[in-house]
Amino acid sequence: MKSFKAFRVHEENGKTQGRLENITLEALSEGDVVIRSIWSDVNYKDALAATGKGKIMRRFPMVGGIDVAGYVHSSSDSRYKQGDPVLVTGFGLSEKHDGGYAEYTRVPGDWVVPLPDGLSLYESMALGTAGFTAALAVDRMQHNGQTADKGPILVNGATGGVGSFAIDMFAGLGFEVTAFTGKRDQDEYLNKLGASAMVYRGQVEMGSAPLEKALWGGAVDSVGGEELAWLTRTVGPEGNIAAIGLAGGFKLNTTVMPFILRGVNLLGINSVFVPLEKRLSVWKRLGKDLKPRHLKEVVTHEVDLDNLPDVFDAYIEGKVAGRTVVKISDE
Ligand SMILES: NC(=O)c1ccc[n+]([C@@H]2O[C@H](COP(=O)([O-])OP(=O)(O)OC[C@H]3O[C@@H](n4cnc5c(N)ncnc54)[C@H](OP(=O)(O)O)[C@@H]3O)[C@@H](O)[C@H]2O)c1
Repeated sequence: MKSFKAFRVHEENGKTQGRLENITLEALSEGDVVIRSIWSDVNYKDALAATGKGKIMRRFPMVGGIDVAGYVHSSSDSRYKQGDPVLVTGFGLSEKHDGGYAEYTRVPGDWVVPLPDGLSLYESMALGTAGFTAALAVDRMQHNGQTADKGPILVNGATGGVGSFAIDMFAGLGFEVTAFTGKRDQDEYLNKLGASAMVYRGQVEMGSAPLEKALWGGAVDSVGGEELAWLTRTVGPEGNIAAIGLAGGFKLNTTVMPFILRGVNLLGINSVFVPLEKRLSVWKRLGKDLKPRHLKEVVTHEVDLDNLPDVFDAYIEGKVAGRTVVKISDE
């Protein structure tokens, strides 16, 4: 195999610099499966890694991209053979292990998920970590007794990748959904996904009592900080809150009152290290009952590797609505 194109991040003079370069297979982290990468995507974490705004990468240089989908190019793992369509999300990709923003990706066989029935390679990366995480949240909440009759689901960070899919999935399952967003111009998008009401950042009277009036049956939060604290005070009896992200801050200032007086459940969601059995069952649901009805609308941007370096800043600024899919190579 000759050299191929990759988006690699370097640390030079204390600064993080991402750029396109030609590398060879020997430069990639070890693994038993080499994937010819076709599609990847952009998550908030990719933007943190590529800009250096978050300490994601543990060594440099490192190929970015926490997700990838493509065809097996070669494999010394007997479970996979050349030409199999597969995907990988999370694990150490773009943290400790070269990621998916390269024409070839090499990973341990245990990280590989066969493309589930009901999804194309493109759709699997339209979903990517964002869709997988939203599905993990829905799955955990349902197993923990979340039902539509408990009241509306509040989805915070609504126009983001995780938020968009959480809205679409809960609405598709027959729940009433309220979107919490900082973007006043995205009502049409959010309505289309299935949100029937909006709450706007900066315009909510959050109160400060340990318990405020119960407003929500449950919540999906990818923002953290004050807004997550408010959700603990306003989710109703036996409701579930999926704590997913920290786009607005990592602190959580609340009390035990919601937990001991309302039986509220705070469910931590970690999509990076999910046991294989669970990973496969959630991906299976993503091809079936949790497949978003508006996948096409959620993909608002498509870029190729050459244009990838330009997309990250807008994520850090919270300006992107929907998902960006990255075309790595032709199918
Ligand atoms: N636990 C896990 O395994 C896991 C998996 C995936 C993602 N995450 C985390 O979940 C969060 C969302 O990920 P994503 O990929 O969906 O990100 P994204 O597409 O960039 O969406 C983030 C959204 O959060 C909202 N937001 C609120 N305050 C913000 C701020 N100060 N800066 C930027 N955005 C802000 C914005 O939506 P609105 O304006 O509509 O509110 C923004 O579009 C991130 O913190 C990410 O690290 C965690």
